[in-house]
Amino acid sequence: MLQDPKRYTVTAALPYTNGPIHIGHLAGVYVPSDIYSRFLRLQGKDVAFICGSDEHGVAISMKAKKEGITPQQVIDKYNSIIKQSFEDFGISFDNYSRTSAKVHHETASEFFKKLYDDGKFIEEVTEQLYDEEAHQFLADRFVTGTCPKCGNEEAYGDQCEKCGSSLNATDLINPKSTITGSKPVLKETKHWFLPLDQYDAFLKEWILEGHKNDWKPNVFGQVKSWLDDGLKPRAVTRDLDWGIPVPVEGAEGKVLYVWFDAPIGYISSTKEWAQREGKDWEPYWKSNDTKLVHFIGKDNIVFHCVIFPAMLKAEGSYILPDNVPANEFLNLEGNKLSTSKNWAVWLHEYLEDFPGKQDVLRYALTSNAPETKDNDFTWKDFQARNNNELVAIFGNFINRVVVLTNKYYNGIIPAPNEFSDVDEATLTEMRAYPAVIASSIERYRFREALGELMNLARLGNKYLADEEPWKMVKENPERVKTQMYVALQIAAALSVLSEPFLPFTAAKLKGILKLDDVPNAVQTMGIVDETLSFNDAERSSHKLSWNDIAVKHQLIPANHQIGQAELLFAKIEDEEIQKQVDRLEATKTANNAANKKAEPQKETIAFEDFAKMDIRTGTILEAEKMPKANKLLVLKVDTGIDVRTIVSGIAESFKPEDIIGKRVSVLVNLAPRKLRGVESQGMILMTENTDGKLVFINPDADGVNNGEMIS
Ligand code: 2FM
Ligand code: ZN
Repeated sequence: MLQDPKRYTVTAALPYTNGPIHIGHLAGVYVPSDIYSRFLRLQGKDVAFICGSDEHGVAISMKAKKEGITPQQVIDKYNSIIKQSFEDFGISFDNYSRTSAKVHHETASEFFKKLYDDGKFIEEVTEQLYDEEAHQFLADRFVTGTCPKCGNEEAYGDQCEKCGSSLNATDLINPKSTITGSKPVLKETKHWFLPLDQYDAFLKEWILEGHKNDWKPNVFGQVKSWLDDGLKPRAVTRDLDWGIPVPVEGAEGKVLYVWFDAPIGYISSTKEWAQREGKDWEPYWKSNDTKLVHFIGKDNIVFHCVIFPAMLKAEGSYILPDNVPANEFLNLEGNKLSTSKNWAVWLHEYLEDFPGKQDVLRYALTSNAPETKDNDFTWKDFQARNNNELVAIFGNFINRVVVLTNKYYNGIIPAPNEFSDVDEATLTEMRAYPAVIASSIERYRFREALGELMNLARLGNKYLADEEPWKMVKENPERVKTQMYVALQIAAALSVLSEPFLPFTAAKLKGILKLDDVPNAVQTMGIVDETLSFNDAERSSHKLSWNDIAVKHQLIPANHQIGQAELLFAKIEDEEIQKQVDRLEATKTANNAANKKAEPQKETIAFEDFAKMDIRTGTILEAEKMPKANKLLVLKVDTGIDVRTIVSGIAESFKPEDIIGKRVSVLVNLAPRKLRGVESQGMILMTENTDGKLVFINPDADGVNNGEMIS
């Protein structure tokens, strides 16, 4: 682990522009990387927080085919949705680029060319999978099959998402084209391979020896198992028509493998940023005193810990990542998030449905982050986190402080009198939080860090609850001045320390406390100066930094005028949550309907066989549960011929009282049989709906009377 880096390059995985961003992406990559970058900036560090759209690869071509539009239209559409939603959500990238940008095509081509010129590739004609119907080579997501490592039948041609293995398409067992569904044949083609096996010793020393203790166990464990299995050369070019053309002779019609060009996107996005800001990009990628951190999802580990580092090593002039903090997966209401199945909470939709509540989602995702194991997002948990934690703890503390300061002192912070032991202990505890939270963030433990932030709000609440200024204000108003002064210091500390996690709240809180109006001079270590006058010239945009909270004697001074109370968080009502739950239910129903396969047709029967069945329309007159039988109802049915008893196995789907009067179809000439001692004289015809629930075959057509024959 690099000590005292001079600058930080923080990258967040480039999202594919084949769909919008959902909560899984946010929890896995973008919220933690944003917390980390904001935290570093508050510490006054030099940070480049880099991202952009990943616009090549088969994922894009497939989406274009599916939507009947061009790949360019696909990337333009999703790049703008993604970029806007990140911005609205407060992800503070220093640069968000696109891999279709000129700077990226140039950077990736140069990178390839350098490796090519230096003889780092193996050029080889090999047999690759080919779809004879589509006249196309199959690689990556154009081919699925059984993973040779774990048996997953839906592994892709370059990776198994179940076990995380990186694969070559020809490794798949029973490969199938995802374009035509056909079985591919083998056909010869030339490609360039990066001989990963030659980097085995370097990777082992760098990761297994060098990062045993500081990389997360889930990341370290995955990498170790690949290295233990042995690495094979890997093709870094493809026979596709969408991507960056391979920049060497004899490679016509071939493009760079998307996982070759995408991580270079971090470099080109840094170049774009540096050029705009008038900086030099190179130290951010080539200087040993730069700390490079890649935030990624768990399915990206092999690419960032094995392939990209081997590429960087082969190129020779780049630094390697100091850490690659990957999270596990987030599920949604018990099921795996899925773009294709629309099983997701989409960021752009959330922002529309919950305007101004960016921080609530950031909070819910961080406090339930899948840092060490897969976790589940539920709307109930989201509501509880907001109502029981943000509103009840953080919001409640700030509200009490601001309301009481306005009530007792017209919003002017009182000068404290002598501090009691409790005051001193409380302020000392407060001053410890920057280090406590920092230690968790530096170890990429963001949920632990957020828990500590909430403990600071709890400290404030406990202080007020124990001191009870509202009871003391009559008998000892001088003591209350000190109490409110102490509580206001905690409020000011929260406005700074909450910023990485809850940036919108932090800004609002700073506004309420009018922290920007505080002159620099009074935010120094030293004696409280009651007489200090606020000269406009002294006011500055000086901001409290992270470390100021630990060392500055007063964070917000006596005599300073704060603003009126405003709610930081509002309660989320059941109806709002129900709307979201209903939406997911509708998705589930639609998916079930789409997936439901009709039962295969039964054996053919003669017309005479059918004609033997006597099916009548009828009405249920009475219904009651069969004693001691969970599934059976005893019905009295008017068949138009008679009123007869029918025992039906529908008790788990219907309450007796709900089906009285129901029109039904009845097979009346089924031989009677006894069920639990009751003779059943026919059968009610039923089917299953898309949710798997039983429904009546209902003859409720105009003018159809009981007894009418169905034929
Ligand atoms: O898994 C993905 O969504 C990829 N687009 C991530 C790429 S990360 C980087 F290497 F660009
Ligand atoms: Zn597998």
